[in-house]
Amino acid sequence: MMETLRVVVDALSRQGKENVAVSLVAESGQPLPEWEAGAHIDLHLDNGLIRQYSLTGSPTRRDRFLICVRLESQSRGGSRYIHERLKLGQTLTVSAPRNAFSLLPAQKIVLMAAGIGITPLLAMLESLEVSGTPFALHYYVKDRQSTALLRHLARRFQHGSCDIWYSSEGNSPRVHLPAELIQPEAGSHLYMCGPQGFMSHVKNQALAKGWQQEALHSEAFMAAAPADTTPQGDEVFTITIASSGASWPVPVDKTIAAVLQDNGVCVPLSCEMGICGACLTPVIEGRADHRDTVQSAAEKSASSQQVALCCSRSFSANLVIDL
Ligand code: FES
Repeated sequence: MMETLRVVVDALSRQGKENVAVSLVAESGQPLPEWEAGAHIDLHLDNGLIRQYSLTGSPTRRDRFLICVRLESQSRGGSRYIHERLKLGQTLTVSAPRNAFSLLPAQKIVLMAAGIGITPLLAMLESLEVSGTPFALHYYVKDRQSTALLRHLARRFQHGSCDIWYSSEGNSPRVHLPAELIQPEAGSHLYMCGPQGFMSHVKNQALAKGWQQEALHSEAFMAAAPADTTPQGDEVFTITIASSGASWPVPVDKTIAAVLQDNGVCVPLSCEMGICGACLTPVIEGRADHRDTVQSAAEKSASSQQVALCCSRSFSANLVIDL
């Protein structure tokens, strides 16, 4: 049976607009189990849910576990509970740390994170700084107000660098790739964590630039959509633009944006992976199946909604948008 321990919520801190960091200390007062960068713990929440969260901060610290949780718009209860109900001093059961995303020995490590995918990569950065392994961290985030764990990142590092790129300032991963990725150095390994679209893009770019598959390591930090909207369950729907009334079918293997562009409609795109908000367009009629990570839960359930054309789909047979 999985080893568990009781912990107490020792601190809660806001980390950008939609993230909260949770510091957990052992109820017994004893040091916590050792862990390595890339590890995660299961959190047993009072509402009966068990959720996995990457440990972040310095792996050398045995006095606390630090996690950072984004409020997911499609939350099935985990992130919502943590954001809305978790209290200082509350006790919880957690699993011992497990690691399926370990750092391998390398001459240099390139870390690429998007959104809340920064959590395991911050732990890697801390670990590399201690071991003296050269590293470069590139963190892609929507805007300055959304940056998580900034206090840990905005400092000088002896063995590497940390750069934060904001989509709102024209530096989404679609238009910006770091030199370390474009010109792979022998003996380097690349670790990435973020939404699936981000990782597919980074992986494809890396392979195209000559990286070996064995040097690429990734961990998806979440399913942006609930289980019943996985791609296998996708269906064709119709997208209609309100200005002309023109409509086109959106097949399962194409985005709304791609269909619109194929038909000569201009779509403002930047990240093309649901993290920047450039393509958000008001919905006039129909029920959007939101797959972006840029809008909050409240925005996605508001009476007046916007849909991310680069990644979202539709629950209704027809979706009318304000274009
Ligand atoms: S282009 Fe960035 S969210 Fe759609």
